[in-house]
Amino acid sequence: MKKIAIIFGGHSSEHEVSINSARNIFKAMDKAKFTPVLLGVSKQGTWYSINEKDFETLESINDSKMSESNSVTLIRSQSKVFCLNLQNQQRQELDCAFNIIHGTNGEDGTMQGHLKILGLPFVGCGVMSSAIAMDKEVMKIVMSAAGIPNSRWVVLKSHVPADFDQIVKQLGLPFFIKPANAGSSVGVHKIKSKDDFAAQLKDAFKYDHKVLAEEFIDGREVEISVMGLNQKPEAAVPGELVVKHEFYSYEAKYLDPNGAEIVIPAKVTPEQTEQIRALAVKTYEALYCDGLTRVDFFLKKDGSLTVNEINTLPGFTKISMYPMMWQAKGLGYSDLINKLIQLAFDKNDFENKLNLDFRS
Ligand SMILES: Nc1ncnc2c1ncn2[C@@H]1O[C@H](COP(=O)(O)OP(=O)(O)O)[C@@H](O)[C@H]1O
Ligand SMILES: [Mg+2]
Repeated sequence: MKKIAIIFGGHSSEHEVSINSARNIFKAMDKAKFTPVLLGVSKQGTWYSINEKDFETLESINDSKMSESNSVTLIRSQSKVFCLNLQNQQRQELDCAFNIIHGTNGEDGTMQGHLKILGLPFVGCGVMSSAIAMDKEVMKIVMSAAGIPNSRWVVLKSHVPADFDQIVKQLGLPFFIKPANAGSSVGVHKIKSKDDFAAQLKDAFKYDHKVLAEEFIDGREVEISVMGLNQKPEAAVPGELVVKHEFYSYEAKYLDPNGAEIVIPAKVTPEQTEQIRALAVKTYEALYCDGLTRVDFFLKKDGSLTVNEINTLPGFTKISMYPMMWQAKGLGYSDLINKLIQLAFDKNDFENKLNLDFRS
């Protein structure tokens, strides 16, 4: 029986979403094949082993409320990977990790690097694609080099004064600003006038020293799930987020229960569906994704597509679009989880075929 570490929590604004996703992954995992091992990372970055009973009602993980007797770390010894309890020194061997921590230290390549150094196969994208996708500027540079349509942009840095008129000259008005490394729409603003600009830019710089100004794209928000090794990606059925606010802001995402309506399949023509699937696969290949990714587009009135962003660790709650778009393709939640775990082992086997002794 393979032991799968489900790793959740973390310090991003999606800490609670991650716990919710983990609970669904835990329930859906095929227990005849896999034994789940629950590992929660606190908002402060400490790892804990969580028992199944506590997990049922767990809302958030904070060091102040956790017992040190449950604190654990991952170690490698004698070519095996273990979860080690730091107090009683008990250890449990692991075969694979299903990391579902969103954002910083979960989705940006750092966790992937940690697991890679340990030599533990893991679900999802590797170090490079995770890091590329996390930084919106680097993501756009790679997409542009591959000929993937995306909005025009200007990079703003906190130590260089921003020139509003120059940005308007390049991008027009309105335009969007967003922190290069963030998520959940935090620090994202639609700029309509010079008056708003200074305050909203200040807010965006709270989350990153690098902010992107982007041309405004007037389009419907459609997305699609992709998974597979980079050589063999598969796309699901596209979905649409019909946003009821001016844009898909933090308020629309998390505070207003009616902020957006999910429509799956998206109401698009069969030709558009194929275009969305093909462009998603092209994006996946270009960014060297090799696990799973959700690709988000704007579908403009003239029918053309612009890629907005990709998410290498989208939500896995029951109402998250990633699993729902697979469901629409005939792949149920449990089958999806089992397939992603199998893919982690397949990727590991594929990588191990290389003779790494020649890499210096
Ligand atoms: N260039 C743009 N044109 C129009 N709307 C945009 C643009 N960029 C972002 N938005 C709106 O802001 C939302 C959040 O921006 P996004 O880049 O997806 O950041 P996040 O990573 O926080 O989700 C999008 O879903 C969309 O509603
Ligand atoms: Mg987004």
